[in-house]
Amino acid sequence: DDMTRGEIVRYLENTVEPEEGIIPAYIMSDPAVYDLEHEKVFLKTWLFLGHESEIPNNGDFVTRDLAGYSVIVSRNQDGVIRAFYNMCTHRGMKLCRADKGNKARFTCPYHGFTFKNSGELIGVPMQKDIYGGKLDFEAMGLHQVTIETYKGLIFGTFNDTPQDFSEFLGDFKWYLDIAVGRTDMEVVGPPQKFIINSQWKIGADNFVSDSYHTMVTHGSIAKLGMVPNATYSKKGYQVHTENGHGCNIGMPNPDFAFPEELIPEYKAHLSPQQFDMMADLKNMIGTIFPNLSFLVSHTEVKGKLISNTTVRLWRPIAVDKMEVITWFLVEKNASEDWKHRSRESYILTFSPSGIFEQDDTEVFTDITGAASGHVPFAKNYTYNYTMGKHRVPVKDFLGPGIVYDDKFTEANSRSYYRYWLDLMKA
Ligand code: FES
Ligand code: FE
Repeated sequence: DDMTRGEIVRYLENTVEPEEGIIPAYIMSDPAVYDLEHEKVFLKTWLFLGHESEIPNNGDFVTRDLAGYSVIVSRNQDGVIRAFYNMCTHRGMKLCRADKGNKARFTCPYHGFTFKNSGELIGVPMQKDIYGGKLDFEAMGLHQVTIETYKGLIFGTFNDTPQDFSEFLGDFKWYLDIAVGRTDMEVVGPPQKFIINSQWKIGADNFVSDSYHTMVTHGSIAKLGMVPNATYSKKGYQVHTENGHGCNIGMPNPDFAFPEELIPEYKAHLSPQQFDMMADLKNMIGTIFPNLSFLVSHTEVKGKLISNTTVRLWRPIAVDKMEVITWFLVEKNASEDWKHRSRESYILTFSPSGIFEQDDTEVFTDITGAASGHVPFAKNYTYNYTMGKHRVPVKDFLGPGIVYDDKFTEANSRSYYRYWLDLMKA
């Protein structure tokens, strides 16, 4: 209660011990930690905004949340994607209230100022009369938001001096290439959204590291015969790179679960080592720090193994509430039949109505409830993240990073919370 920011940081330093596998429950529930997180993490790092294929044509736009604030992401008439703070520069009205659309210019609903989708103010009702022709149009363009893209993924930040974007992704690009950049990919449909009473980090943490829960939480996958046995999720590799990013790679896979006719495309987009991994891939689950996760998984649809690829955002709304936003991605040049079946396999499994999605959300909600500190002492309890600490990283691997040849470890979570703590202290 009533701790200063400096005291909160010192308390974190003294109680969060990622390398020891000690993570206190209060970081999931304390409103002061949540506020500090907003400032030190969400206003500082790169955050996911959307996919280039969502706005394929000039004039297309989407409005998205960036660290709790609305931004317009628009493909301008010159084909260039730009992002703007969704606020009229006259008196601050939210300029655009639609989720998506196509507009060459935006007119403010309050007094009718009009802006081009490249940001310039171009129209003010009766301006010659009411401003005497003295209004400085040039100074009143929309406030631009810094964005960068990688393999179709658009990231943004409000930080004036952000970390170099390429350095931020770092070695993790190698894995991201396979997950979302193995060839030209496109988002199908609008993202699906749902709100759950969960702390946002629980989702990010689950995807960065937790293959272990699959055996129990998703035990029905094995019982339904969709995988050969309950320990299938142990086999493979867990990898993390710098800046908290990490993934779990299920392999080998006797079957090739991607469209075979696209093999030449995959080979053109990937290095031989990346292609080898992809050809052997059963699934791939990971998190880009802080809150973008991805999942490449395989399901049998009508007798054939079909992969589906999704990216998802764990968007904080409150300390104990988040919106989960899921984008379904598919190979642009796959057949219509493949695209359809891949989407079916997503809808069936890890979409909001999927048979496994709710396994996780129920767990996330209950962890959040138990951490909430309604029981006064519960918030001082700690979680145990020591799994796999006895293991030694493997030396020879196809890709970069710290690699363990067993997915049942919490090494990625320890790395994730280390980076989180470093940012909180900065
Ligand atoms: Fe937008 Fe006045 S607030 S035109
Ligand atoms: Fe799960």
